[in-house]
Amino acid sequence: MKNKMIAPSLLSADFGNLERDINMLNNSQADWLHIDVMDGRFVPNISFGFPVMKTVQQHAKKFVDVHLMIVEPEKYVEDFIAHGADLVSVHYEACVHLHRTIRLIQDNGAKAGVVLNPSTPVLMLEDIISEVDLVLLMSVNPGFGGQKFIENTYKKISETKDLILNNNSTALIQVDGGVNLENASRLFEAGADVLVAGNAVFSSENPEKTIELLKI
Ligand code: DX5
Ligand code: ZN
Repeated sequence: MKNKMIAPSLLSADFGNLERDINMLNNSQADWLHIDVMDGRFVPNISFGFPVMKTVQQHAKKFVDVHLMIVEPEKYVEDFIAHGADLVSVHYEACVHLHRTIRLIQDNGAKAGVVLNPSTPVLMLEDIISEVDLVLLMSVNPGFGGQKFIENTYKKISETKDLILNNNSTALIQVDGGVNLENASRLFEAGADVLVAGNAVFSSENPEKTIELLKI
């Protein structure tokens, strides 16, 4: 996998023109499509589910990265993989049996990620780091796009990097929330491999150009 990857979040796309926005991403330098699924229980907002996944599956030509912000994600991971998810990330805080859920995702042929809320310490990953394909560090409290980046994330990136190296893990580090043209290069320098960007991409005048600039 390349480093300096960008995963635009469809949460900020225009749902009346979803096919158009997915095609724009197909033609851009975006590496992954980030799909934010919210259930109104794990997070205080409801986004979308399988009908949107069907449209993504029909049109997306990029790697599909599904971020589940739902309780009991183990009930749905197989369905998301059947709907085209290449990677499924589940929250540490939402999984009673995290190891089992990570295995379930991988046994169904997808990559598995674990997500930490801003208040969850990186050390909670010590006994799962060698099993996961990705660690997603939330740099806002999950639930909404367009929030302000939490600066403590830089420290968590370097702690995650150390944890990965000390355990010979191959996990990628992804950062999600409040990523923009001001902080992207510092996040990559700190050790992030994949940056999620919703608002920064879709509210810009030229989303394709913004994706390009986020990699510089
Ligand atoms: C937040 C979501 C993010 C969000 C990022 O709950 O997980 O993926 O859409 O959006 P921005 O980049 O607008 O903060
Ligand atoms: Zn997300």
